[in-house]
Amino acid sequence: MFPGQLPRVVSAPMKITYFGHSCFLVEAGGKRLLFDPFVSGNPLAAQINVNSIHFDYILLTHAHSDHIADVEAVMRQNPEALIVGIWEIHAHYSAKGFSTHPMNKGGWWPFDFGRVKMVNAVHSSSFSDGSYGGDPAGYVVDTADGAFYMAGDTALTLDMKLIPMICPALKLAILPIGSNFTMDYRDAVLASAFIECDRIVGCHYDTFGFIKIDHAKARAAFAEKGKELILMSIGETRTF
Ligand code: NI
Ligand code: MN
Repeated sequence: MFPGQLPRVVSAPMKITYFGHSCFLVEAGGKRLLFDPFVSGNPLAAQINVNSIHFDYILLTHAHSDHIADVEAVMRQNPEALIVGIWEIHAHYSAKGFSTHPMNKGGWWPFDFGRVKMVNAVHSSSFSDGSYGGDPAGYVVDTADGAFYMAGDTALTLDMKLIPMICPALKLAILPIGSNFTMDYRDAVLASAFIECDRIVGCHYDTFGFIKIDHAKARAAFAEKGKELILMSIGETRTF
């Protein structure tokens, strides 16, 4: 190393596997992060064995069953893993004996894979028994392999404009595009402008009748603005 040279940051491509609906496994910062496990109840993901998913962390966006249905099953297969969620989700799983890390919206928290900021989502959040699930949330995850935004279930909101002001440039963002319960793909095009990210991975579409979309039209809406919409196949892994 010559004087003035910065130490080289070892960075690898980010690896993302799609398990349907809003469930993704992201391998970044040397760890495996699972988002919103809802697999066994998803007829489109019938070929996925939820018990074969290995991970180090689960990050939960909110308490609706189409985001948490498989949490307890997968945690039993990965007993060393840590559940990350807003205070009420932490309290729910902590009371059941699982290891949790409580967060709320605000500043960064450093984990061993990178740092995490919980950000706003415009939606609702309750457990299937009707009990309060706290506020719905999204995450910005910043690792040595790059930063990404997982929006969770959300409508389009001006709060997304804060993300490029307070977070590093995003390598990609996972945005809901299915409409009815969340943004539709047209709103998601605007969201991608708000967050200043041209590479979007779609989620929360096709699973139920309410959220079936036309893939070609959705891709075209992004392409028109010079952006890429990636619709992964269930079970597919891509590197970014
Ligand atoms: Ni929801
Ligand atoms: Mn949902």
